Amino acid sequence: MGRITTEGQYREHYDWSLNKNEEYWQNVAKELHWFKDFDSVQTGNFKDLNVKWFEGGQTNISYNCLDRHLKDRGDKVAVIYEANDPKVEAKKITYKELHQQVCQFANVLKDQGVKPGDRVCFYMGMVPELLTGILACTRIGAVHSVVFGGFSAKALAGRIQDCEASVLVTNDGSFRGGKTIALKAIANEALKDCPTIKKVLVSKRTNENIEADARDIDLDELLKNASSECEATPLDSEAPNFILYTSGSTGKPKGLLHTVAGYMTYAYHTFRNVFQMEENDIYWCSADIGWITGHTYLTYGPLLNGATTVMFEGVPTWPDAGRFWQVIDKLKVSHFYTAPTAIRALEACDIKFVQEANLSSLKVLGSVGEPINEEAWDWYHKNVGREKCPIVDTWWQTETGGIMISALAGVTKDIPTYATLPQPGIEPVLMDADGNEISTLAAQGNLCIKRPWPGIARTVYGDHERYKDTYFSAYPGYYFTGDGAKRDEQGNYRITGRVDDVINVSGHRIGTAEVEDAINQHPSVVESAVVGFPHNIKGQGIYAYVILSDEIAEDELKTQINNVVNEMIGPIAKPDAIQITPGLPKTRSGKIMRRILRKIAANELDNFGDTSTLLNPEIVDSLIKGKK
Ligand code: PRX
Repeated sequence: MGRITTEGQYREHYDWSLNKNEEYWQNVAKELHWFKDFDSVQTGNFKDLNVKWFEGGQTNISYNCLDRHLKDRGDKVAVIYEANDPKVEAKKITYKELHQQVCQFANVLKDQGVKPGDRVCFYMGMVPELLTGILACTRIGAVHSVVFGGFSAKALAGRIQDCEASVLVTNDGSFRGGKTIALKAIANEALKDCPTIKKVLVSKRTNENIEADARDIDLDELLKNASSECEATPLDSEAPNFILYTSGSTGKPKGLLHTVAGYMTYAYHTFRNVFQMEENDIYWCSADIGWITGHTYLTYGPLLNGATTVMFEGVPTWPDAGRFWQVIDKLKVSHFYTAPTAIRALEACDIKFVQEANLSSLKVLGSVGEPINEEAWDWYHKNVGREKCPIVDTWWQTETGGIMISALAGVTKDIPTYATLPQPGIEPVLMDADGNEISTLAAQGNLCIKRPWPGIARTVYGDHERYKDTYFSAYPGYYFTGDGAKRDEQGNYRITGRVDDVINVSGHRIGTAEVEDAINQHPSVVESAVVGFPHNIKGQGIYAYVILSDEIAEDELKTQINNVVNEMIGPIAKPDAIQITPGLPKTRSGKIMRRILRKIAANELDNFGDTSTLLNPEIVDSLIKGKK
């Protein structure tokens, strides 16, 4: 089947994928390596919620990322590692070398007693061992769960305990621009509450002094001595591949479980179609492996396609705001995939940084994680793409495994602020306020997906009921994305943002309930309500309304609340504004009317709609007066 290379072909593939869905995906899957052929392509549906792909088959994603390429691409560079320090030469790792390193890591895991199905948690900086480590898990059927290195000890412990990981892999510390993060010290704190962890594999990066935990093992030493041969284990198609935690509108973060064959097939196909890479191109996704983008489009998608992928340890603004552009020139990057928040942050810096760069190697630009506003799109197109690179605005989610709606670079038309068209096999629908599908093309509504696709997360780890409730109860028979969208006459989609109590801060999903739970830990906070508001750089900022039991100076309160949020979640969830209030707008049934809080936080101080159901309408004026 190969990659889609013309607009006509896109239409043909799309129709084929909907009319003969199983035949379509069978053709894609057959391009990959199977130890044992599958008996059926797809079973189950969005009613029984027992969706399965490629049952009866056995495969291995690490085999497909590595071994499959050894014959033709063994000496091709698989990964270019660019360290935080710009003076350090980039490290090039060929497919042959990556294969050896992954085998070594897999042997270490096996020697430490890791068995298929066991959960291994990674809490690391952006170091090569993170990438080889997750591939090593998939090689032996262990299940990786990566926790972003910016989360707090409590957040880490919560995730480890939820999936009952038996091994933690971490670094002494990590470099992020001019700062270091003491990962092991944070991990040690978390480990106090993690009885399931039997071994802690520690790799050195920053060489800082660390306090040893009785479970510590020197990973670097073990890797040095491990054999570089390790056969990939044939795994059932629906065997677990990884768990990745993400925030929702209620409760604690959910561990989305992705399985082996469907995720692999979907990552493989979407990567090649969306990015349109040629054999010698160099691809750079700037996401951290701690997020889904770093899983699917830094690691699996590129490697499944035999591409060269860049892994970057640093940040866009250190040592200066030209770092991204310098790396693109240094490594001759042709495909660059980043988040709108990074674009807006760099847009706010001196234009000379981007103008001084050459950037002639670039062919394709990508955007992910949040809606890209027109101004940022134009800036990216003009200054980075020099008006010659298509921009793929890729809409998808941790739950979807891979890109769902996006242009195919240079093949289908890109439109500023629109994600545009669904990928093959994806049937998006918009729902009206009564829960019915909207049949007219030009429309606006809540975005659902009508049929299963191979990359969908199969469950919330350990809580299938929560999976059902969260994604399939609002519109029975449909997967509900939590996003709103508009559709134009040509069928192009524009994502308008979350319609639930999830906010998207710098492309990171944060549940308002989680932040409220953290703030409520403060001894003087009686109640709090958190909403998002438009923020120039982060996309959305966090606005917290708090009711206090005793008087505290505002500055002091801010510091204390920041500390408690830092401790419970991590610095990414710190509120941008805190407003002390005597009350919150509540309905007679005690529900907070968040619509009002959102409007005030956004400085939209008129037209509050119907407030007649409020128990305490006078609070609205008081909230407006106290606006931060
Ligand atoms: O609201 C959408 C937004 O990010 C959410 C998913 O977040 P997460 O699971 O962390 O995955 C981010 C990376 C795939 C979505 O529900 N989102 C993601 N991509 C876009 C987007 N919003 C608009 N345009 C996008 N391209």
